[in-house]
Amino acid sequence: MQTIRIEKTTCPKEKPGNDNPLTFGTIFTDHMFEVDYEEGRGWYDPRIVPYHKLELDPSSMVFHYGQEMFEGLKAYKTEDGRVLLFRPDKNIERANRSNRRLCIPEIPEDLFLEGLKTVVNVDQDWIPTKPGTSLYIRPFVIATDPFLGVRPSNTYKFMIILSPVGAYYASGLDPVKIWIEDEYVRAVKGGIGEAKTGGNYVASLASQVKAHDEGYSQVLWLDGVHRKYIEEVGAMNIFFKINGVVITPELNGSILPGVTRDSVIALCKKWGVAVEERKISVDEVVAAARTGAMEECFGTGTAAVISPVGELRFEEDRMSVGGGKIGELTQKLYDSITGIQLGIMEGPEGWSVEVK
Ligand code: COI
Repeated sequence: MQTIRIEKTTCPKEKPGNDNPLTFGTIFTDHMFEVDYEEGRGWYDPRIVPYHKLELDPSSMVFHYGQEMFEGLKAYKTEDGRVLLFRPDKNIERANRSNRRLCIPEIPEDLFLEGLKTVVNVDQDWIPTKPGTSLYIRPFVIATDPFLGVRPSNTYKFMIILSPVGAYYASGLDPVKIWIEDEYVRAVKGGIGEAKTGGNYVASLASQVKAHDEGYSQVLWLDGVHRKYIEEVGAMNIFFKINGVVITPELNGSILPGVTRDSVIALCKKWGVAVEERKISVDEVVAAARTGAMEECFGTGTAAVISPVGELRFEEDRMSVGGGKIGELTQKLYDSITGIQLGIMEGPEGWSVEVK
């Protein structure tokens, strides 16, 4: 593997104090990882450099056709000062799956992991330690050919930036109100829904704005073909607990294969809780919510970890879930996943990767 050169900043920034609420994604650390790609040469010159603005040609392909991939994971500091990454192998694997779909060259796994570890290690003093905080890691690739024709770019830049964060939702773990969206769709099977790329997120904005205007935090997406089966919630995967069984939509090509989703399924199975990955229709969800058979509902994602749902709105119907309170299993999953992330609890083999 190529050696990562390190150029440290000569003017470190002031770090946020313990009283800073660390609004998600607003503060960035002193350094970033950067590596370039050229057709025929491969990925070259991996480096840690001071966090900096980019100079790009306005015709760079990423600005016009959205050829880009991003990832999200977190680093935590344990009480005894160790630095842990949560399941980085899953993010690296998913990044390259997204890259293949988006015609972006794959990133060698060892270079990706070493880049992650090195930049987190260099900026480890930025990892916040207050409960509910962590260092959010954002790896991303952009297409940089200065060209306005539509084809895959021949040059790319892969970067990793770091941001000390608090809760993703200002409301923290308070249950959120969700609008079931029956007008817009986020993705369709055969499209790019299972890739982590900006196009899926921009597709969600109009619906998010509409839901916000109606007093709802996020939308629950239905499939783009039948407008019938549940897919995701906002930018997260969705779980329901109905009559004691945990149900989540099966991965079908238009749903993002979430790392937290995978972790929730693994923990439920370990605890002997019945889990089903299957199609679940909006009619089944509405009927379960109306009759009270729906005991719990929550979203899962790296940014918020677990986000309880307290109300569902479908057409003119408003349905309370779990009396608007966080459910027992939802709380246990949140405590367990964050406990493992913080090194307080033992997770399954390989989930915690130490940065040294
Ligand atoms: C996540 O749950 O981590 C997300 O995908 C949200 C992110 C786009 C901020």
